[in-house]
Amino acid sequence: MIDDEISPRGAGSDELRGPMRAWVPFMQLVATVAAVAVPLRIVLGAGWVSAFPAIDGVVMAVFVIDALINLRSARKEQTSRGWLLLAADVVAAIPFHLRTGIFPLVFLRLVKLLRVARWMRIWRNERPTRWNVLRLVYFGYWLALSVHWLAVGWLALRGIAPGANGWTLYLRSLYWCISTLTTIGYGDITPESNPEVVYAMIVMIFGVGMYGYVIANVSTIITNLQPARVRHQESMETLAAFMRYKRIPGDLQRRIREYHTHVWEQRLGVDESSILAGLPPALFTDVSLFLKRDIIQKVPFFRSADESLIRDIALQMHPLVFTPGDVVFHVGDEGNTMYFISRGKLEVLDRDGVTVRATLGAGEFFGEMALVLDQTRSATVRALGYCDLYRLERDAFNAIMRRHPSFADHIRAMTAERQANFPGLSPTSNIDSQARED
Ligand code: CMP
Repeated sequence: MIDDEISPRGAGSDELRGPMRAWVPFMQLVATVAAVAVPLRIVLGAGWVSAFPAIDGVVMAVFVIDALINLRSARKEQTSRGWLLLAADVVAAIPFHLRTGIFPLVFLRLVKLLRVARWMRIWRNERPTRWNVLRLVYFGYWLALSVHWLAVGWLALRGIAPGANGWTLYLRSLYWCISTLTTIGYGDITPESNPEVVYAMIVMIFGVGMYGYVIANVSTIITNLQPARVRHQESMETLAAFMRYKRIPGDLQRRIREYHTHVWEQRLGVDESSILAGLPPALFTDVSLFLKRDIIQKVPFFRSADESLIRDIALQMHPLVFTPGDVVFHVGDEGNTMYFISRGKLEVLDRDGVTVRATLGAGEFFGEMALVLDQTRSATVRALGYCDLYRLERDAFNAIMRRHPSFADHIRAMTAERQANFPGLSPTSNIDSQARED
């Protein structure tokens, strides 16, 4: 009943673009109305479904329009499946029952459900995040329709005595059908004739199959509703076990846990580079720009910078996270990276490690001086809270400085200003940092 085939992305998805987004749900509704009304009309007779000719007229008109629309996409798609579905559309649209006078031919309207099933598959593939919810919804849809058909079938077998109320009889059939399918079977309505006994057996077998399906799938579906959360919880459990095994001190354990929780909350545990990996270059650039739009908007200099500079920087920046109290680098360290702050606050500490020279926040950058002046770190930088930063490595930095004089000027001006603010700021040599490490 539920097909897990994933059609290649894009194939058929054109069918749901633009105005089709509204048309397709409408069509599904009309096809469903036909699927409910047609069997009822056949079994209950003309008198009980007096609105049927009007319903059938509307259904036909809509099916004809839809077949014409689908003709266009079948031509474009040029696949045997496309043409087969189009044939089904045409069969469903032609009023064979009126032309031939053989009323049961109205059943051919139900062929349209093939198209409904195909749309459902496309919707589902278009909405991977709602995949499981849609599976449940579609399962409910087909189940409800099947129960209706089985109930109408039972009604047809029992027959309608003259003078009996058709709707009451339908309701009873539905009741029998549901109680048999759910294996409740009170036994208040029992099969009498042989065909009824056979039919009841078929319904029971269908019910068992349905039960099996529900039990096997619903728990998985519900668990899968939040796959990212489940993955996160599992990785946290593995982490906790590992940390216990390695006897990592409690405080470090807490920091590791907090780091993972922060990353999870900010990015759902998804590593940006894994999303970008394997994308073709043009798409890679566009996605990189989009993912880094927050930082690009926050840095005042970038707002007025030209496109090519922003693209160059976006392609070279890599995200990283610091937790409260983390030291990004110490004064005197070798410096090969500069950082842009996307979120959070950091403090710039003097050589004594106590005096705060400056506090930096979102949209600001640091670590550029070591690169521009080719010296070791002039200060220690420490995260005050959780910080989301983007790092730019020396090679990329140098290349961008060479290619974009406006960026180079801005960075140099900032460096000069920071140096001027602290006249005592003397470049530390590499020998200095060597001494510190010793
Ligand atoms: P760098 O010397 O590589 O490492 C320390 C960083 O702190 C330095 O680059 C600057 O980016 C930053 N920094 C130094 N002085 C100041 C200041 N006065 N105001 C803001 N940031 C500073």
